Amino acid sequence: MGRLQDKVAIVTGAALGIGRASARLMAREGAKVVVADLKLDAAESVAAAIRAEGGRASAVHLDAMDRASIEAMIEHTRSTWGALHVLHNNVGGTDVARDTTLTGMDWSCWDGAINLNLTSTVYACRCAIPLMLASGGGAIVNTTSMVALSGDVRPTAYAAAKGGVISFTRFVATQYGRQGIRCNAIAPGLILTERATPRPQAVLDIFERQTLAKRHGEPEDIAYAALFLASDESLFINGQIIEVDGGVHVHNPTTADLVEWAGRASKGGAT
Ligand SMILES: NC(=O)c1ccc[n+]([C@@H]2O[C@H](COP(=O)([O-])OP(=O)(O)OC[C@H]3O[C@@H](n4cnc5c(N)ncnc54)[C@H](O)[C@@H]3O)[C@@H](O)[C@H]2O)c1
Repeated sequence: MGRLQDKVAIVTGAALGIGRASARLMAREGAKVVVADLKLDAAESVAAAIRAEGGRASAVHLDAMDRASIEAMIEHTRSTWGALHVLHNNVGGTDVARDTTLTGMDWSCWDGAINLNLTSTVYACRCAIPLMLASGGGAIVNTTSMVALSGDVRPTAYAAAKGGVISFTRFVATQYGRQGIRCNAIAPGLILTERATPRPQAVLDIFERQTLAKRHGEPEDIAYAALFLASDESLFINGQIIEVDGGVHVHNPTTADLVEWAGRASKGGAT
């Protein structure tokens, strides 16, 4: 008996990265998974791999920036699987080269970041909740980010959008909790996913110094958190933001430098 046995789950942005890991894991735990992505061919491949493992999955084209496409994803779920119990709103991102400081960013980033990260999440919840209620309730797992939890020099538009996801998550929990819908969010730290623009080694090294786990995050780290929040194991958890970042954000920003300084001082090499 899987942890999501016979539940119907949508994972958005599920052709690659965190979404793909979440779709596979939920299917292994017995869910019927809708693999939704802009890249339909890649989504079909993920669904086919799930079926090849003995799981159940369908693929659907989703442009999360387009309301009609979100509505079509929910209709696909209803007509294919007849119910909806889990919505993992995973899709998101920004162009970090252009989404910089408030005055420095390319202004076209603003609408794109808000639409892809916040509006798509809001609209997917709005469309999914009636089907979830008709299915007896369910669990929504939204995606925010570590960058929404403190100030930084970039990416301003993305962080504002992900901050909106935090507030919105609590509103959904409050408005629908008594009707059997839970809504939580995951705030990932740096997770190594295949991206068009790989992160420079210097940036990876900085994160390595600041991560208590002493390794970088993997898509499965987020997928396991999403599985828990989607499953009945978390039935008493609602409206929460779960940081899954290897401990980057939990400690003072001076910690790594102070530990190094103390090490040098103990050898008489620092003042
Ligand atoms: N990877 C990280 O370090 C990290 C850190 C914090 C938060 N996050 C968040 O986690 C989520 C997943 O991140 P990831 O790194 O796996 O992303 P990714 O870029 O690796 O994958 C995103 C997926 O979304 C799809 N997609 C892109 N635009 C779409 C659209 N308009 N409609 C439908 N699908 C679309 C892509 O085709 C791809 O399959 C995002 O919300 C991201 O903001 C990631």
